[in-house]
Amino acid sequence: MQKEDILAETAAYVQQLLTGEGSGHDWWHIFRVWNNAKNIAAGEQANLFVVELAALLHDIGDHKFHNGDESVGPRMAREWLQKYDLEGDLIEHICQIIQDLSYKGAGTSSSMHTLEGRIVQDADRLDAIGAIGIARTFAYGGHKNREIYDPAIAPVMHDSFEAYKNSTAPTINHFYEKLLLLKDRMHTETARQLAQQRHAYMEAFLEQFYAEWNGNR
Ligand code: ADP
Ligand code: NI
Repeated sequence: MQKEDILAETAAYVQQLLTGEGSGHDWWHIFRVWNNAKNIAAGEQANLFVVELAALLHDIGDHKFHNGDESVGPRMAREWLQKYDLEGDLIEHICQIIQDLSYKGAGTSSSMHTLEGRIVQDADRLDAIGAIGIARTFAYGGHKNREIYDPAIAPVMHDSFEAYKNSTAPTINHFYEKLLLLKDRMHTETARQLAQQRHAYMEAFLEQFYAEWNGNR
């Protein structure tokens, strides 16, 4: 089967799985990450087929929706890709990217081992910041029944993945724990450039948010 046909079938499969998802991990998130990834890859010498498949499949079995089980995503991706006659290490590579992709908290470092993985991680992280990132973050917080903000609760940085994952802090906390840190954790020049503006937008948002909260604007 042609690569384009495999990509089209994979996109249709993911679209059918994630359409209507209400926490910001819906099909359109995947679609944007796919586009970001292609855009970033255009400036790199990467295997585009691996980049595109990993971008498409990266959230199909996210641990946040499978009781914290991180093996579901890579397993679902492997089962899907085994339908095709692909070289063995290509499937392994894609599953490894999916496994390593997730943000594990402010105190942890990323373990992306290949250029293709770094591109997909940048693409996913671009969709976590800026205006879209803000929208997704509050959508996720609502999905988890979190308050948006509580002035009596100071921002916290959880120092393990376990604590980060189980945090019940108000949604604003996510800016300090993740979103504002991402611009300095981009791997590629293209993503670093795009992240600058999105980052500035989030800072302006927070300033306006607190000003309104205090009745000053
Ligand atoms: P990653 O793909 O890096 O693991 P996640 O899937 O955990 O990222 O998060 C993607 C987006 O979902 C975040 O950028 C944010 O918008 C939202 N999100 C995840 N966890 C939280 C949280 N604890 N509070 C608010 N939003 C969250
Ligand atoms: Ni994602």
